[in-house]
Order: sequence, then C-alpha cells, then structure tokens
Amino acid sequence: MADLRMGLGYDRHRLEEGIKLMVGGVEVPYDRGLAGHSDGDLLCHVIMDALLGAANLGEVGTLFPNTDPAYKDVNSLSLLEEIGEKLKRVRCKVLNIDCVIVAQQPKLSTYYSQMKRNVAGALGILPQQVGIKAKTGEELGWVGAGHGMEAMCTALLEIGE
Ligand code: CDP
Ligand code: ZN
Repeated sequence: MADLRMGLGYDRHRLEEGIKLMVGGVEVPYDRGLAGHSDGDLLCHVIMDALLGAANLGEVGTLFPNTDPAYKDVNSLSLLEEIGEKLKRVRCKVLNIDCVIVAQQPKLSTYYSQMKRNVAGALGILPQQVGIKAKTGEELGWVGAGHGMEAMCTALLEIGE
C-alpha cells in the first residue's frame, strides 16, 4: 500500500497599484498587482502550503518569514523550487496538486498552461500533474469588488520507503 498524504493551502492578497501582478510565476498584464512582502504570488503560496501541510513540514510563513529582509520582493516561484527540493530530501513524491484562484479580474485562463509549466518545472513534475482553475467573485464581497484575490490548493504526496 502506498503511503499517501494530502494537504490544503489557502491564501489571500490585496490588489494595489504600482505593483506587477504575478500569478504562478507569470507576469499577468493588469493595472494592479498583489501586495505582499514577497512578489505576492498567491498561487505559489497556496501550493507551498498544501505541499508543506501534506508533508507535515510547517508553513510558508514560518519557513520564509515576512519579517526577514531576505524575502523582500522574493520571487515566489524560487521559494516553491526550494520546497520541491525539501520534499525530495524527505523522499516525498508529488502526485498532483489542484488549485482554484478567485479573482474578479483579470481573465487568467489564458495563462493556465504557462502557470502549469512554471509550477511543474519548479517541482520537477509534469504540467499534467498541476490543476489550475479560476473563478470570478461574481461581483460579491471583497474579491468581487476587486480589492484582492484568494486561492486554495490541495496536494497529494506519496512518502517513499
Ligand atoms: O460560471 P461560474 O460561476 O462557475 O464561473 P465564473 O466565476 O463565472 O468563471 C467562469 C470562467 O471564467 C472560469 O471557469 C474560468 O475559466 C474563467 N475565469 C478566468 O479566466 N479568470 C478569472 N479571473 C475568473 C474566471
Ligand atoms: Zn501569500
């Protein structure tokens, strides 16, 4: 019997002017970007938390503290790559991850394949093992009003012998 572990990640970030919009390592053209100590890439953040949760290795916020100047404006895709390395060291194999991004705007589906390639590349898996979906906020609440975005991710890992 395979030793399987699942994990869950959740994140939200504000949208602010004067910041590049980074989602899944893709710079998406838009008039605002996701604010944060890092590059605000919430897709990378939820994937990291789902993987860390599944492997019982903690969470993004404690591994890469937002009080540490080393992580100011850091490329979140490079942090995801670090998590990928960490998982390999403890013989955790990523079977699949699946994400939902809730964003009123902009349209993200155009960038799914690029995001999947980036995430898969960082983790050393195939793009077919990465699910990415987007929902609008149906103009409801703070996401619907365009104040920010939120995302969720599940991950399934196999622990090696
Ligand atoms: O139809 P439903 O309410 O399920 O979904 P929606 O929130 O109206 O979004 C419809 C479709 O738009 C999604 O399935 C995505 O393919 C796309 N979408 C997108 O590309 N970018 C977004 N920021 C939101 C939705
Ligand atoms: Zn985040």
